[in-house]
Amino acid sequence: MGVRALWFERGALYLVDQRRLPERHVVLRLTRTREVARAIRNMTVRGAPAIGVAGAYGMALAAREGRLTPAAASQLLVSTRPTAVDLSVGVAHVRVAWERGESPTAAADGFRDRVVDECRRIGESGARLFEGAPKVLTHCNAGALATVEWGTALAPLRVAHDRGSDLFVWVDETRPLLQGSRLTAWELAEEGIRHAIIVDNAAGHFMRTGEVDRVIVGADRIARNGDFANKIGTYEKAVVAHENGIPFYVAAPWSTFDGARPSGRSIPVEEREASEVLGASRPRTAPRSSAARNPAFDVTPARYVTGFVTPDGLVRPRALAATLRNRRAAPDRAT
Ligand code: MRU
Repeated sequence: MGVRALWFERGALYLVDQRRLPERHVVLRLTRTREVARAIRNMTVRGAPAIGVAGAYGMALAAREGRLTPAAASQLLVSTRPTAVDLSVGVAHVRVAWERGESPTAAADGFRDRVVDECRRIGESGARLFEGAPKVLTHCNAGALATVEWGTALAPLRVAHDRGSDLFVWVDETRPLLQGSRLTAWELAEEGIRHAIIVDNAAGHFMRTGEVDRVIVGADRIARNGDFANKIGTYEKAVVAHENGIPFYVAAPWSTFDGARPSGRSIPVEEREASEVLGASRPRTAPRSSAARNPAFDVTPARYVTGFVTPDGLVRPRALAATLRNRRAAPDRAT
């Protein structure tokens, strides 16, 4: 795989600074848990599975530094971003190993390997949905940058493209931080996948005019009933896809499924600084006196989801609870 969002080498976590892409490819070297927490909060690293892996390595660094207890390190990391459940899963995975006296770094490596392998399998299992020459719409960035390697929503597209599908991707620019135009378009360009960036408000227009055959997005947390949280604006895309009879897929590794949460009603939605909406950069895009609200995610009801593209195949929303129950009961279930 070409793009890699992060890696761990000789006691340091290396992160591609996603705030600087696509103009600059800057790699940061972090050796302290506090630096990792800051990088997650300020979105140097972002995307649910990627922050899960970064959090796991943040725990490994805490064990090396020896200043924080496992509980304190865990609290510091998990409090950075509330919506993506992968973050708590990655952190908890290493915390358990650390508290058992096992190697936290080995545990973090194991978590990373599992995420990468699951994303590769999402690509394999979902590619058949994108055979031929479909026009596909995606929102935010659910590519390698968001997951370490492969991606979730982008993984089936990469595999279908490699297998000869001549697909075309509509990339929602994804206000206010532009993960679509800055990151997804960059990844697709690197892979030579045909695409065009559209303003978020144009998605409905292209769906209604018959220029979108399928929608695929990632997720930050999927409740047991199939309601799921993803980047703000996903809900609208799902409703409009439903209205126009367009299949709507959600791709995610198992760490994104929160089987303990019965529905999306109680999923915590992160609200970020108003300055991201008002235009922190010069020239400002809003009057100085204006207020703003900036929910980073929204929750889409399961009824709008055609299927979840998982590492183990397509799961329909109505089958999700049973699938998660069976996974819990399976002896080789990964924690
Ligand atoms: O705020 P972000 O950029 O971390 O939000 C990311 C998303 O909403 C992604 O779609 C989601 O994490 C799935 S990533 C494979």
